[in-house]
Amino acid sequence: MRYFASLVLVFLSFVPCVYAETGREGWLRYSARQISTKWKEDSLPNRVVALGAGDVIESAIHELTSDVPELQFSSKIGNSSALLLARSEDAQRMFPELRAGLPSGDGFWLKTIEHHGSKYWLIIGGNDRGILYGTFTFLARIAERRDVSDLDDVENPSAPIRWASQWDNLDGSIERGYAGRSIFFENGIVREDLTRASEYARLLASIGINGCAINNVNADPRVLSSEFLPQLVRVADVFRPWGVKLALSVDLSSPVAVGGLKTFDPLDPEVAQWWKKTADHIYARIPDFAGFVVKADSEGRSGPSQYHRTAADAVNVIARALKPHGGVLMYRAFVYNHHLDWRDMKADRARAAYDYFHPLDGQFEDNVVLQIKYGPIDFQAVEPASPLFGAMQHTNEAIELQVTQEYTGQQRHLVFLIPMWKEMLDFDMHVQGVTPVKEIVSGKVWHRSLAGFNAVVNVGLDENWLGHPLAMANLYGYGRLAWNPDLTSEQIASEWTQLTFGNDPRVVATTSTMLLHSWSIYVNYTGPLGAQTLTDITGPHYGPGIESSENNGWGQWHRADQQGIGMDRTMAIGTGYIGQYSPAVQQLYEPLTNCPDNLLLFMHHVPYTYKLHQNKTVIQYIYDSHYEGAAQAAWLVAQWKMLKGLLDDERYYETLRRLEYQAGHAVVWRDAIVNWFHRESGIEDELGRAGHDSNRIEAETMQLSGYTPVDVTPWETASGGKAVQCVGQGPCSASVKFDRMTGRYDIAVQYFDLNDGVSHYELLVNDRGIVSWAADDHLPSDKMNGHTSTRFTFANIDLKPGDVVKIEGVPGGGEPAPLDYVEITPAGSITLGITPAIDVPPVSTPH
Ligand code: GCU
Repeated sequence: MRYFASLVLVFLSFVPCVYAETGREGWLRYSARQISTKWKEDSLPNRVVALGAGDVIESAIHELTSDVPELQFSSKIGNSSALLLARSEDAQRMFPELRAGLPSGDGFWLKTIEHHGSKYWLIIGGNDRGILYGTFTFLARIAERRDVSDLDDVENPSAPIRWASQWDNLDGSIERGYAGRSIFFENGIVREDLTRASEYARLLASIGINGCAINNVNADPRVLSSEFLPQLVRVADVFRPWGVKLALSVDLSSPVAVGGLKTFDPLDPEVAQWWKKTADHIYARIPDFAGFVVKADSEGRSGPSQYHRTAADAVNVIARALKPHGGVLMYRAFVYNHHLDWRDMKADRARAAYDYFHPLDGQFEDNVVLQIKYGPIDFQAVEPASPLFGAMQHTNEAIELQVTQEYTGQQRHLVFLIPMWKEMLDFDMHVQGVTPVKEIVSGKVWHRSLAGFNAVVNVGLDENWLGHPLAMANLYGYGRLAWNPDLTSEQIASEWTQLTFGNDPRVVATTSTMLLHSWSIYVNYTGPLGAQTLTDITGPHYGPGIESSENNGWGQWHRADQQGIGMDRTMAIGTGYIGQYSPAVQQLYEPLTNCPDNLLLFMHHVPYTYKLHQNKTVIQYIYDSHYEGAAQAAWLVAQWKMLKGLLDDERYYETLRRLEYQAGHAVVWRDAIVNWFHRESGIEDELGRAGHDSNRIEAETMQLSGYTPVDVTPWETASGGKAVQCVGQGPCSASVKFDRMTGRYDIAVQYFDLNDGVSHYELLVNDRGIVSWAADDHLPSDKMNGHTSTRFTFANIDLKPGDVVKIEGVPGGGEPAPLDYVEITPAGSITLGITPAIDVPPVSTPH
């Protein structure tokens, strides 16, 4: 949204410019000056020596020498102080006094040592990747102004598989991507310029990510055609210096689609031969190729069921082709029937992965890893941990997370996902003593040598990678958690903020606090008590769309009706889903009185009058949490505004713009959900808010010129279910005579910003233009609904009785300058917001 007001422009031109920043460096934004100053302060050595050579080690040297110009590379250890990069075996040869227990694999050891009268800062890697990871860690510590004079820290990653996935299509679009087009593909081939791909690999390496699947899980079979291989080689080449191995998503029907076979039946010898030949070809050109990701028998993808074969049959034939080369096959457990019968009270999508895969435990080749989404449904803002994690003792497992915020605000809303992921990782499955998910997916519980993490990231060509300047905290946090799931959310938030915005304690404290509250704030205004995000699940998964979950086969049901809400997943009378957990976890969820409030509606169907542990009814909780959540979203804006002048203008204003939008959209969410449940339940809000808003003036009740009323679908996404639209060229206007006390007010204008045109609006008082703006955002719909409803707020206008407040709208393209309502509130009340008071209680673990 662009807006124009003389006042605002004057103000903007006086804001001091601290830095010019795009966000392209991500968290690697610490400047050479910053590092080099600290380097001198700490009298760090001016020589860097590497024992060993290779692309990855060269990257490490380059990171150091480009940040510290005084640092000279030397191939000889010599006898003066130096920073020394070495693999474990070389380090031990040079310094026999180093104790045993040197890092292995991707691990590293940061160690200071006195040797023959000189001091050495050793960055020892179990392999070259370990050296690079150690180097990034060393530099990050300096950037955070930590003491590096005396080091003795060994770090080993929690699991060998730490991958990122991109859902990029060959035409350059990205499924569920919200930050521009693909950094890998355009027009059916790999992009000519892979600069961004290389920069992405550097960012991934700096947080310990060692593999990246670059194409959509809904895979285009052409990626396996022999003509495409040279394209892939180019990507692998730009990844390699960063120790990031290339992986690919593949379609099971590839033997037919690009192999010219008549079948892709996994038990057909010709099919096996085709996979073997294909893998051999890839490895001949890309020897460090990581492997494949497979989505099959899911959401219309082809799969083994077409030949009455099992997932094990399908996966093993491909795994055998990869195995001689050390390749891994990630098989996605996201297999379910999306044509379920919603009238069948026993049908349950949440059961699907367990029902399908549990009987196959132990039947997979040892280079197969079952990739399990964290929850049993689909990347919801609140879900229980998938029971499948506890059910596959003889199978390698990985957890699938989602950095791209498909169901969590699509990077238009601030949602720091680390606290949610930590709840999943810390959840104790109680399958063998204390068995938190993090220990299962690190392979520790069942002694699996392959295990790990894969997250759908979906960065795009937008300069700052993910759109929202604060969204990169999720990618950073993902890498950090995959490396060490015991890190706290607080630690990750503060590290990321320091590396991204610098060390000013006010910036670090405020940004971290905002990040840490943001998930519960989002949950508060979008979906109650585990009933899932009440979004438009058959549309773009963005704005509210409460009924879209029901009466269809997708199985994301919340079953809200006039009496109550929730999916009954009990063993006693429900779908039996709870029975997929161990007895201790069953005991947590099955008895209604035990079930934690935040998952109540995921596990049980209850009347609206049911009393929660926190001693309020479900319906009152729905009202309260949504009012509080929207106010908390406004609080985020107020918090951020305290940082004005403490960081660069670019990232400050871009973040502010998104937070202000979010605060407006949180009101859309709040009203949609509160009004829907108010109408459906017929139960009054004890605080009298639902259905009443004395400050609000519906556009359809204003004096209209050119504007005509229209019904909005779904009704709850417009105030009163109606809006007005301007028919013809415009301008159209909607006016109201102000009839309240003389005073200073804030005015909010609620309108719809469709993606097929740009309308222009002006707010006038007594025919004097106050401010104008353009509805030029690219929200995911061309209709008036919860995706497009947008709020424009103008603060501090003096009004007296009789003043005429008017909105003028001029349509543009397919967008008829639609208007929902105007809200006039005493100055300060819209933007101030409130301090977060109610957090969603954490998922409790049984005792
Ligand atoms: C979600 C998402 C799809 C995606 C699927 C998957 O359903 O909306 O776009 O293909 O997950 O994970 O495979």
